[in-house]
Amino acid sequence: MNKKSLLTMKDLTNAEIYDLLNDAKAFHSSHKDWQVPDNHHVLIANLFFEPSTRTHYSFLMAEHRLGVQSVDFNPESSSLTKGETLYDTVRTFEALGYGLFIIRHPQDDYFRELESIHVPIINAGDGAGHHPSQCLLDLLTIYEEFGRFKDLNVLICGDIAHSRVAASDGEALTRLGARVRFAGPKEWERDGYAFYDFDQNIEWADVIIMLRIQRERGAKLESLGDGEYLEKYGLSKERYARMKDHAILMHPAPVNRGVEIDTDLVEAPKSRIFKQMENGVYVRMAMIKYALGFDPFGRSYV
Ligand code: CP
Repeated sequence: MNKKSLLTMKDLTNAEIYDLLNDAKAFHSSHKDWQVPDNHHVLIANLFFEPSTRTHYSFLMAEHRLGVQSVDFNPESSSLTKGETLYDTVRTFEALGYGLFIIRHPQDDYFRELESIHVPIINAGDGAGHHPSQCLLDLLTIYEEFGRFKDLNVLICGDIAHSRVAASDGEALTRLGARVRFAGPKEWERDGYAFYDFDQNIEWADVIIMLRIQRERGAKLESLGDGEYLEKYGLSKERYARMKDHAILMHPAPVNRGVEIDTDLVEAPKSRIFKQMENGVYVRMAMIKYALGFDPFGRSYV
């Protein structure tokens, strides 16, 4: 099996998405740590140029469970502070012999600059572009709940304009047969994304994915305070009460409590927010398996 990068959901066929989800489920249910075979052992470099809790530390847990060693890059103590470029930083790690890069970077499509790098890259988030590991853990959470994607109604609400989660989830869920609608402030509409009225679609949705306001990417609504945002565009208790009985609430987190979601709803019965985080470890184990090309389950990606 070949080593492969995983940069966007478009890199994956539908069959590969299901293989990754099934691998993640197998990692979850196996109750033991799978070890990367000796001939696939590499030293992984976790290159996070942007802050992260869930993605960074669940990749670390996935690496630990797979018995593969890794190092963490610290931008503040690196030669980035002397003006070194992204390309030269990554090319340096390649020259040093690292065998897989997990990269998060604030620039959309940063990986286009890295096309001549031979080491496989897993994209851990690029600007407002793509977030394939978040998408896969969202897909796993939905798949575990409903056992399918076809004909599910998924409402994605909030800061669509700046959200790489909206982009990756929207693309993949639509391709897998779900009906996806977007909602949120008009200021945060995005070309090519079908916007609907939030209040008129709560009863329609089987899955509601609330999004964080991406203030670090310049998102702001001049006229609204946090409480007003919750009332106008967020998931209030009143809106939660109108969700279908079987519907679930998701959020990629971190959550701005009391802004996009009423704080009491973060762990409400329909919420799967912490389940998503748990699923992130299994999905990232499966992604490392995909990138390194080892095969503990006897399944082939070729
Ligand atoms: N959902 C997500 O990507 O969270 P982090 O920024 O904490 O990794």
